[in-house]
Amino acid sequence: MPITEVEKIWMNGQLVPWHEAKVHVLSHALHYGSGVFEGIRAYETSRGPAVWHLDAHLDRMYSSAGIYFMEIPYSKAELVDAVKETIRAAGLQSCYIRPIAFRGYGEMGVSPLANPVDVSIAVWPWGTYLGEEALEQGVRVKISSWKRHDQNSLPSAAKATGGYLGSILAKVDATKSGYDEAVLLNDDGYVTEGSGENIFVVNGGTIVTPHTGHGCLAGVTRSSVMTIARDLGFPVVEQNLVRTDLYTADEVFFTGTAAEITPIREVDDRTVGAGHRGPVTKALQDAFFAATKGDDPTYADWLTYVDD
Ligand SMILES: Cc1ncc(COP(=O)(O)O)c(C=O)c1O
Repeated sequence: MPITEVEKIWMNGQLVPWHEAKVHVLSHALHYGSGVFEGIRAYETSRGPAVWHLDAHLDRMYSSAGIYFMEIPYSKAELVDAVKETIRAAGLQSCYIRPIAFRGYGEMGVSPLANPVDVSIAVWPWGTYLGEEALEQGVRVKISSWKRHDQNSLPSAAKATGGYLGSILAKVDATKSGYDEAVLLNDDGYVTEGSGENIFVVNGGTIVTPHTGHGCLAGVTRSSVMTIARDLGFPVVEQNLVRTDLYTADEVFFTGTAAEITPIREVDDRTVGAGHRGPVTKALQDAFFAATKGDDPTYADWLTYVDD
């Protein structure tokens, strides 16, 4: 998706003009993938823009950083303020938010420990990641021949920039073959997730998603959807899924900050269920979007109002 520029980006403690938010070409992260980041959304509500699960996203960023011995030189409260300030400066009612902490310019060599940790936060308007019509019609996916990296190669608990090279291989392979998205298996053949989304199946009203231990990211949307689903009365279980479980499911859908809740209508050219968004996916979308807009008081705690 193209980036729509706004005026300012928050960088190392201050708002700077969009085109001045630059890094040195010898920055460690550029050479070795040593960055941790988040993708967050702010939604328009009757009380102004509100950030969805800001706390959970920042918590994940600090724990991703900790896995790589990266000390983020700002407190969580400072980053909450910085996110609010950046959205206010952009004057947006809804947006995508991209905080990143990365090893900057200093020494060159694999060990990053002597390099500074730089932090930036950018915001811009962003529509639906997999296409507006995808939310209703669903997307076509392909099981990738690229495997999700093993926990002991690159821990999936960290949302780290370098970890996305595998996602890039899978995504490009899928789109070049005419599909919208890839689904990655792990080395044991179990389904993990999409290149940037968690995955769920629905069978006879029960909702199933792979356990995070099998290699998927512990998605913030994944856990919100599990809570919403249980609140709606659906049983939710985390268990192993193989590729044919996707072929034979009543419904399959992706979750993610970018993808929100996107139905999957075809897997490896097999039609899933009725071939379009199913009733459980629709019920979850309705409840999810009501919560993001601040229309459901049950989930009021999940929103951080920018102007409060
Ligand atoms: C590989 C991967 N899996 C899952 C997700 C979904 O996570 P979340 O719901 O926290 O955005 C993302 C997006 O951040 C991702 O990049």
